[in-house]
Amino acid sequence: MRVAIASDHGGIHIRKEIASLLDELKIEYVDFGCDCEGSVDYPDYALPVAEKVASGEFDRGILICGTGIGMSIAANKVKGIRCALCHDTFSAKATRAHNDSNILAMGERVIGPGLAREIAQVWLTGKFEGGRHAGRVGKISAYEEKHL
Ligand code: RB5
Repeated sequence: MRVAIASDHGGIHIRKEIASLLDELKIEYVDFGCDCEGSVDYPDYALPVAEKVASGEFDRGILICGTGIGMSIAANKVKGIRCALCHDTFSAKATRAHNDSNILAMGERVIGPGLAREIAQVWLTGKFEGGRHAGRVGKISAYEEKHL
């Protein structure tokens, strides 16, 4: 699995925590920043990562900002992206099993690094259940094909 990670200035600490988790799990990843001291714009980080996942260059993405909301809104504009904003492990497990989410968003001003790490681990290892869920995800893809 290849994972693309990025954050804005509001998510740098959790992004570094996730990088260390990926190192421990021996999962290949590329860190797309930000390497910033000042304020940056979350779409400038969310959209390139989402495009890399949508194109198949990366299998998954993890995006962090202050709330996770801006990153998830931006990433979900890209066709083929199912970005889940999760601040608990139940949702992280469920969104892999039911939504086959391919990007995880989290907010550093909402949760701490320990919980973010657990959420990411559950999400990275969670499997899509398929079955009735595949039909539901398929309806989203069909909408995208028709309208986007
Ligand atoms: C930046 O101040 C903040 O707006 C951003 O990190 C994020 O929370 C947006 O949704």
